[in-house]
Amino acid sequence: MENTIRSLQQEIIDFEIGSPAELEAFRLRYTVRKGLIAGLFGQLKSVEPAEKPRIGQLLNQLKQTAEAKCAEAEERFSSGEKDRVSLIDLTLPGRRYFTGSEHPVQKVLGEMKRIFSDMGFGIATGPELELDRYNFDMLNFPPDHPARDMQDTFFITREKDGDDVLLRTHTSPVQIRVMLDSEPPIRVICPGKVYRNEAISARSFCVFHQLEGLYIDRKVSFADLKATIYSFARQMFGTDVKLRFRPSFFPFTEPSAEVDVTCYLCGGKGCRVCKKSGWLEIMGCGMVHPNVLRNCGIDPETWSGYAFGMGVDRTVLLRYKIDDIRLLFENDVRMLKQFPA
Ligand code: DAH
Repeated sequence: MENTIRSLQQEIIDFEIGSPAELEAFRLRYTVRKGLIAGLFGQLKSVEPAEKPRIGQLLNQLKQTAEAKCAEAEERFSSGEKDRVSLIDLTLPGRRYFTGSEHPVQKVLGEMKRIFSDMGFGIATGPELELDRYNFDMLNFPPDHPARDMQDTFFITREKDGDDVLLRTHTSPVQIRVMLDSEPPIRVICPGKVYRNEAISARSFCVFHQLEGLYIDRKVSFADLKATIYSFARQMFGTDVKLRFRPSFFPFTEPSAEVDVTCYLCGGKGCRVCKKSGWLEIMGCGMVHPNVLRNCGIDPETWSGYAFGMGVDRTVLLRYKIDDIRLLFENDVRMLKQFPA
């Protein structure tokens, strides 16, 4: 009897249960009511009384081994079953992940960049922490000229002349950096953030975006500037758009102009956004001042050029009917989620 139990124990240990059918075969052979183990328990009564406790204990161990093996296999097959069900249940709703999306300012800037790069402009960038020298001096702002007051500057350090560090008030210093770093002909746009110490409201914020343009070559004329701006405006605001160039002043251009487009909300009829005028100002521009070219080591007798600088944020607000510029800088996910890729 003992030998039978021991060989059965080994047989059970060696039995590989690899499928539900094998599990069933295992149960039928060993653990059911008429199986081998129950049969051995039946024979226990014919064992000598002195041997009964030991043989009984061996039989109990055999039974436990078999039951543990059954339980382990059942567990294995039932969890596999669950996985299979979840894999093939096509009626379950998909899981939605918020993967992030492009900020509306970047969408509009992206469109502007595409239009200018189609016209052959490269892209240049410069630092937001800028030297006074590049932000003002080399752009032909005289030291005490009131034009500096047009732009309320955040100064970071007050050093001696020109070495002051500030948050750039416009993207025009990138023009200077590009002209110092490269030889004409030059054709670049410079997109980026600029900073001004202005009263914060729904219409103005201390940070905003500009896109600067610079073209330097032989015999560049105001007509080239107009043609470029017209082409840009038609692609950006629609082929019906009309432009108006108004004489203006900037220290770094001569002559200078400001450009208006027909209001693209009311088409020029007059509305709340254009303050009934029918026009929206989109940029400043002009022919690069000879002093600026000279400051950057470019001979104004040989080279001429135009420059322009436009605000980006107002176009974003109008395009997406956003009524408060502060929303563009708060990064509130509830707002950003409304601009999926
Ligand atoms: N930098 C000017 C501003 O922030 C905009 C501007 C005007 C840029 C004329 C230019 C330009 O390049 O030629 O108001």
